[in-house]
Amino acid sequence: MTAARAPLSVAGAMDRAVALAANGPAYGPNPRVGCVLLDSAGAVLGEGWHRGAGTAHAEVAAIADARTRGADVRGGTAVVTLEPCAHTGRTGPCVDALTEAGIAAVTYAVADPGDSSSGGAAVLATRGIPAMLTAHAGASALTHRWLTAMRRGRPYVIAKWAATLDGRMAAADGTSVWITGPEARDHAHGIRAEVDAIAVGTGTVLVDDPRLSARPGGEDGPHQPLRVVIGHRDTSGRRVWRDSHAVSVPSHDPRDVLAALWEREVRSLVVEGGPTVLSAFLREGLVDEVHAYIAPVLLGAGPSVVDDLGIGTMADALRGQHVNLQPLGADTLIVAHLSRGI
Ligand SMILES: NC(=O)c1ccc[n+]([C@@H]2O[C@H](COP(=O)([O-])OP(=O)(O)OC[C@H]3O[C@@H](n4cnc5c(N)ncnc54)[C@H](OP(=O)(O)O)[C@@H]3O)[C@@H](O)[C@H]2O)c1
Repeated sequence: MTAARAPLSVAGAMDRAVALAANGPAYGPNPRVGCVLLDSAGAVLGEGWHRGAGTAHAEVAAIADARTRGADVRGGTAVVTLEPCAHTGRTGPCVDALTEAGIAAVTYAVADPGDSSSGGAAVLATRGIPAMLTAHAGASALTHRWLTAMRRGRPYVIAKWAATLDGRMAAADGTSVWITGPEARDHAHGIRAEVDAIAVGTGTVLVDDPRLSARPGGEDGPHQPLRVVIGHRDTSGRRVWRDSHAVSVPSHDPRDVLAALWEREVRSLVVEGGPTVLSAFLREGLVDEVHAYIAPVLLGAGPSVVDDLGIGTMADALRGQHVNLQPLGADTLIVAHLSRGI
């Protein structure tokens, strides 16, 4: 790890902890967390971040880093992006690791909403270690999807589609390869590489036979999301079933899909279509974020991105918030958060 040489304020250490946290994987059941240990003069004693489920938590990694540096962390302050956990999961409680190391104070940026893992600050306080919450926008942004999933008790849902200027998702004959250009498609592969699962309906599997793999830069990436097929029809023999990293959810209820995936520790899901499945998730208010890749293409016929959502008047329209536009070659990506999903 690279040592920060100049003394840091607690705020400066939190900026650093957020930057460290970003080294961790965006996918997986655990959030991205970073930790910096400071002495009373602001010197960095150790740094760490969480590398994913089953590996050391950020606090434990930072304590180990301090040992490697020969630094004594007793009496130090731990600056950590997420409230230290108070439970034994795949690894032991961070509150115990901090207590045993002799840490004297903790500052954290985001409270842990987990049923079993929360309450770390209160535990530390009972041990005479003050733990102070200091909000940090970067830390919140980094944990937004995970926090939303934990609070809702279901995976964070991104609805993704590629559409024409006139809102068509496929041509009249069902073909949709390719509405958008290579830049947009590569971008979408990058998003797939950051989530736990990708879902489509049986209709898309039968018409398009998609691979549903994450191929950022054109190659299979090291992390492949779980492939999920929603619906009853037999899709055996299709490419989605090429290995065991795929699951069928024979239901038309998106809540069944999310419950089944939550059981498998899926915390983030991209729903990629088709229109029937996308509409079902939107209708149930189960979409947190929309990723619409819009191509300067007109079809004039073919399925629309969504069908009836039960909205009869403008006042009831689903409106995106925190909207972001990104040009990708000839296409534009519109990212919008849905008010019902936040
Ligand atoms: N442009 C894009 O981004 C994009 C992406 C994907 C697909 N597409 C296009 O979309 C078209 C396929 O559309 P689609 O609507 O048939 O695909 P779909 O949404 O993938 O699949 C629909 C099927 O899923 C099952 N299903 C799951 N949940 C359901 C629910 N709540 N209500 C009803 N049925 C449900 C039903 O099959 P069962 O009878 O098996 O239960 C239904 O026939 C293709 O032309 C494809 O190329 C475009």
